[in-house]
Amino acid sequence: MLILGGSASQPLAEKVAKELGQEPGHLEVKRFPDGEKYLRIYNEVKDQDVVAIQSLYRTPDENIFELLLLSDTLRDLGARSITAVAPYLAYARQDSRFFPGEAVSSASVARLLEYAGTTSFLTIDCHLHRLGDVAKVFKIPARNLTAMHELGKYAREHFKPRNPIVIGPDEEAEQWAAVVAKELDADHVAFRKVRVRKEGMTSSKVEVDAGDIEVKGRDVVFADDIISTGGTIAEAAKACKRGGANRIFVVCTHPVLAEGALKRIKAAGVLKVIGTDTYPGPISKVTVAPVIAAALKS
Ligand code: R5P
Repeated sequence: MLILGGSASQPLAEKVAKELGQEPGHLEVKRFPDGEKYLRIYNEVKDQDVVAIQSLYRTPDENIFELLLLSDTLRDLGARSITAVAPYLAYARQDSRFFPGEAVSSASVARLLEYAGTTSFLTIDCHLHRLGDVAKVFKIPARNLTAMHELGKYAREHFKPRNPIVIGPDEEAEQWAAVVAKELDADHVAFRKVRVRKEGMTSSKVEVDAGDIEVKGRDVVFADDIISTGGTIAEAAKACKRGGANRIFVVCTHPVLAEGALKRIKAAGVLKVIGTDTYPGPISKVTVAPVIAAALKS
């Protein structure tokens, strides 16, 4: 198996290759003066099983195009199989047509990858609100892995929470809270979230209902897939503070962190917040390399 890292995920590809006890392949990506990308694979890929790792963060359109170019080139060069790994799957949240004429972007991205020769697909903690499973978006075999075990281990070793309760800030996050709770040997619950969405708006106001969940005197660990504006976590943390929670920590897979998000979260009373390298940034303390390597081995 040959591991190739796209320009958005070279360090991660190196870590995955190391987990598998091998060197990553050699991919050169550079730009022509007009902004077009040049791509060259230096390894022999004919009849090889090739893994192309490219997370679709921060500059998603650019990263997607490079992944398409890579996949199509691998097919053209005769690779036996092409596994595309997009740890952060951009466009996943647009999995439905909310208003007439909108693009169902998650389906479009899947079709493009298939068309470019990808034969299987892996992603991590992909949030498909309505479809639930990434396998429903792709026709090729597709799997959604989770970073929550790794995040839970980090929380156990670094936060050392006392009398912890793990909370998913909304109903969908309960699945992630459950995994983190297992690592912390704690119980878990989920809040309820209402998003007030208006036509033509790309973001929305969030209201969180903590119900009668008892957090008084306990350390809280929130577990979520994405932190974008920080609105969800901030509202959930405020509810915990009102309820008399002790320290509040947050783990998430994809720390997208729009401008001001960290400040908003800290101002709401959160002590520490960490994420993974699916979306590299200042709080990406946990690597998903072992998660990807394990999936490739299975
Ligand atoms: C959506 O429900 C996700 O699980 C996250 O809770 C959400 O995307 C976070 O977004 P934000 O940080 O903007 O509230």
